[in-house]
Order: sequence, then structure tokens, then C-alpha cells
Amino acid sequence: MLLRSLLFAASLFQVDCYFSEEKYPEESKVQPPTVVIAIIARNTAHSLPYYLGALEKLNYPRDRISVWAATDHNADNSTAMLKEWLTVMQKYYHYVEWRPMEQPISYAGELGPKHWTNTRYEHVMKLKQAALNFARKRWADYILYADTDNILTNPETLNLMIAENKSVIAPMLDSQGAYSNYWCGITPQGYYRRTAEYFPTRRRHRLGCFPVPMVHSTMLLDLRKEGMKKLAFYPPHEEYSWPYDDIIVFAFSCRAAEIQMYLCNKERYGYLNVPAKPLQTLEDDRLNFVHVHLESMIDGPPMHPSRFVHMFPKQRDLMGFDEIFLINLRRRTDRRDRMLFSLNELEVDVKVVDAIDGNALNSSEIKILGVDLLPGYYDPFSGRTLTKGEVGCFLSHYFIWKEMVDVQMDKALIFEDDVRFQANFKRRVLRLMEEVEQVDLDWDIIYFGRKQVNPGKEGDVEKVYNLVHADYSYWTLSYAISLQGAQKLLNAEPLSKMLPVDEFLPIMYDKHPNEDYKSHFPNRNLQAFSASPLLVQPCHYAGDAQWVSDTETSTLWDDDNVRTDWRGSHKTLKGSAPAPEMLSSAYRDEL
Ligand SMILES: *[C@@H]1O[C@H](CO)[C@@H](O)[C@H](O)[C@H]1NC(C)=O
Ligand SMILES: *[C@@H]1O[C@H](CO)[C@@H](O)[C@H](O)[C@H]1NC(C)=O
Ligand SMILES: *[C@@H]1O[C@H](CO)[C@@H](O)[C@H](O)[C@H]1NC(C)=O
Repeated sequence: MLLRSLLFAASLFQVDCYFSEEKYPEESKVQPPTVVIAIIARNTAHSLPYYLGALEKLNYPRDRISVWAATDHNADNSTAMLKEWLTVMQKYYHYVEWRPMEQPISYAGELGPKHWTNTRYEHVMKLKQAALNFARKRWADYILYADTDNILTNPETLNLMIAENKSVIAPMLDSQGAYSNYWCGITPQGYYRRTAEYFPTRRRHRLGCFPVPMVHSTMLLDLRKEGMKKLAFYPPHEEYSWPYDDIIVFAFSCRAAEIQMYLCNKERYGYLNVPAKPLQTLEDDRLNFVHVHLESMIDGPPMHPSRFVHMFPKQRDLMGFDEIFLINLRRRTDRRDRMLFSLNELEVDVKVVDAIDGNALNSSEIKILGVDLLPGYYDPFSGRTLTKGEVGCFLSHYFIWKEMVDVQMDKALIFEDDVRFQANFKRRVLRLMEEVEQVDLDWDIIYFGRKQVNPGKEGDVEKVYNLVHADYSYWTLSYAISLQGAQKLLNAEPLSKMLPVDEFLPIMYDKHPNEDYKSHFPNRNLQAFSASPLLVQPCHYAGDAQWVSDTETSTLWDDDNVRTDWRGSHKTLKGSAPAPEMLSSAYRDEL
């Protein structure tokens, strides 16, 4: 009876199976591989909020990630910050291993908190090995090493690296200069070797995943591959005779195990800070990081700090000026936001002034303001006359000079809103202005950012480092101006004989090549100087993909119906203005 009903059930089942439309559940998907993220932090309180913020945003299931975190020898708040973050995050990750070491706060014999002694190299190798042992013991599929000043702004980085299916692979990270986390060549002694491939790779002129002799700082290891069993960070390979440095020891280990390292630069993955030199302080390192951060905002995806790490608000000041003005067109909120964010990071206070929008001005308003064109003015490069944008720009600067005179303001600093800052911007400004005071320099304007036309013709100012007498220049990206300077500019009554403001200034300090224009302004005694090297650069140059100018592309100033036929003025092309200084560093650097 039992047998019969079983057979009956089976036949029913079979019939059912054969004829019905009913669908059986598909096989469920395979879970993503398991990953250990190794965090080894030392003295990086300035970058940790962004580092951890980026880890949080990695697009990868957290229950497939274990975190192995160690921190030691800290003179700053790294331990507390990491602990605060792990306390919140541990419930999301599969497992968290926490290895803090509060004492000592330095290594014996080190020259500063950024100096690598042999004991430090050895300690770091041991930590990396401990993380590797942990991952192996737990049968993790991958281990991701990422230094705590490497910010993975691309949340797909982990997935993209896994998809390449390599044993050891690194995402190429960007920095404020040539530095990155790979070498293309290595000498027989294990040192960095210059190669023809480095720069084309770094600049993404060649794209792909390339075999290289060295990747470091951020890299993913596929522990499922058989050969990986032989790799070690510590102790160094028995035949090891190269420099005692954790990254070189590991590169040698890969070589000995016949495992090829790969570097990938197909996308932007994130940023890294240039390593500090042995004698640099934590403050130097922090300022370097601020610089990478600000540079990263110009083209790349932004860094987001973790919400789970406490950050103190910045203390801003005016760097000794009475006011710092930021000229911004109200509709360019993107530029305003970036500039305000940047200046806040630099701890500089600023007042936004709404730029006069040339495109919103009509001819009758222009007449009421008493604006008239300088007779005979035309742009030498495009052959056109003034644009509305240039009128708006002139008026924006003009009203600031007027405000200075109205309230008898001693000195002010003016920024346009499309600048990028030189490394250590604030320190350099403070040092420069202090020296200018010390020698009692009689100055009216000091350019911080402009395009030099004749760099060879500009003499140094005695007893002031990094200051030159300004020759003919284009652009008014940023300049300091004194009350006396503002008064001289107003006295020239420039509204009734207007030309672009960046042509007007050189006329006033008598360095403009056009005698005709100059003849309209008899008192050309402005005392003009310039920081050298310049303290700010334009964000983008004409011809760059991202380039937009609000002055050079707007319609003609005196005709509301005609769009300017603008084919690009040479003024805005990248030329004699030096490219942002490339930072060099220890032998790890390309420069
Ligand atoms: C150190 O970090 C902790 C956790 O983020 C924070 O609560 C504390 O205020 C910080 N202390 C200092 C001096 O920065
Ligand atoms: C990944 O590489 C291994 C060799 O290391 C190969 O056997 C495997 O098929 C590759 N997997 C994929 C998905 O390409
Ligand atoms: C110019 O603009 C002003 C203010 O928006 C307006 O009152 C005036 O009528 C305009 N004039 C012309 C000619 O469009």
C-alpha cells in the first residue's frame, strides 16, 4: 500500500514535471569572493576620515569582507579615529580584527614621524605578513592592502581589480605630481629605474593592465592562485640582498615565486599622497594631503569623509588682509562650491561677491553705468572687441576697488573662481607678505596668479624671496591690492574707456606694448609685482576638455542680438605659464 502510493506520487510528479508550465527555482547565484582588507595606519589622522569614507563606499557586500586593522607608533589621533570607526562598522563586516598599539609613539633613532628606520620597515613587513597569515588562515579569496593615505574614490575599484583575474594587481592612483604606486623599471640592485613607459602610463596615454616590476601602497592579492602560497612580506627571501624596504622585499618575493605584478590604469580609481621626506613633520604631511585633495576635486570624483569619524571644523583667517574677495557668477555654483571648499580646507576666510553678469546687462544699463569702449580696442588674437563677459568681469573688479576706497581698506586679496592652488598656498602667502612688510615695499598690486608674457624680462625684488617686478601679463586670477593701488586704478577713470581688466592693469604699470591704448591713461605709475613661482594657476586651459570661460565666450558687449564669433583667443591657451609644480620625493618618485 505504501509502495503503491509512493509510486503513484512519483508518477504524478513525473507527469507534472513533463507537462506543466510550472518553473523550478533557478540555481541561486554564487556569492562574491571573500576579501580581507588590511589597514595599517600610522600618523595619518589627516587622511583617515577620507580613507575610511572611501572604504565604506566600496560597492562590495560587507558581509563578504573582513577587516584586519593595526595601528602603532602614533604621535597623532589615528588610534582613536580608527577605533571610533571600527566600533560603528564592525557589525556590518564579516569579521574585524583590531590590533592597536598605543606605546611607544616613535621608533628609536627616527628623525621624525615620517622617517623610515630599518626597525620601522621591519615592523611594517611583519604587520603585512600578519595580515596575510590572517587571510590565509581564514581561507579568504583575496586580500586588499591599501595605505591609509590612499583614497579609493572610485567605489568600483575592488570589483574592477577582481575582474582582471591577476595574482597581484594595483589600481594606478593619481597624485598632485608624477608620483604613483608603481614602477616600470627596477635596477639589478633593486632600486627604482627610469623608463620610457612610466609617463605615458601615468598620464593615461596608454591604457590597460600592464605587467610591471613593482606595485605598492594599494594592491589586491588573489590568494586562490597556487603560486601565492610562496609569497611573503616577512622574513625577506633567503637570497634577498636588495634594500631593506617593505615594498622592495615584496616585489622580490613575487619575482622569486614567478608571480607577475600588474598595474591597471583604465579608469580613475583614487588618489595617494606623496610620501613625506624623512625630516618633514606631520603638519607638512597634512598640507601635502590637503593639496592632493584640492587637486583631486578639479577633475576627479570627490573624496567623502566618513560620517563615523569626528572632524573638527577648520579655523579660518584672513592671512593678514582686511578682506579676501571671491568673484563668482551666481549661476556658476559649481565653481563657488569648489572654491569655498578649497579655501576652507586651506583655512582661509573669504567673502563671495556676486560677479556682474555681462550676459544680463543690456545696452541701456551699460550706458547708465557710463561704460564706453576704449577707442580702437580690439583683441589681437581674435580681432574682436570687448565681450559682455569682459565688461561684467571689469565691473566686478572695479566695484571691489571702489569698495576698498569707500571704506579705506588697507589691503585686500582678490580671487576669481577658477583657480587651483599651489602646494602650501597659505604658508607661501604668509611668508611672502611678511617679507614684503619687512622691507617696507611700496606696492600697489601683487599678482598671485596670471599668465606671464615675458618671463625673461622680470627682475627679482631685492631681499624678498619669490617676488618679481611684473612685466606684461594676462589674466587676473588672483592678486593682492593695496588701498593706494585701488585709488590709482579708480583715478584713471577706466569705465569710460574700457578694455579687458587684464589689459588695463599692465597699462597702469606701464608695461603694455600698445602705445595707443596707453596714451588714454597718462598716470601709469602702478607698483606691480608678482609672486614667482605663482601661487595659483587656472583650473583648465583653453583646449582642455573641461575648459569653459565666462568672459571669452559671451556675446558682444554692445549688441544684444549677436553671438560672438569666438574661435579661441591665444590668451587663454596654455603657454608660458608654468604647469603646476610637480612634487618630487624620495627615490620612489619618478622625478
Ligand atoms: C581624536 O579622535 C576621537 C575619535 O574620532 C575624537 O573623539 C577626539 O576628539 C579626537 N581628539 C583630538 C585631540 O583630535
Ligand atoms: C583566471 O585565471 C586562471 C589562471 O590563473 C584561469 O585558470 C581562470 O580560468 C581565469 N578565470 C577567468 C574567469 O578568466
Ligand atoms: C535693460 O534692463 C533693465 C533692467 O533689467 C530694464 O529696466 C530695461 O528696460 C532694459 N532695457 C532694454 C533696452 O532692454
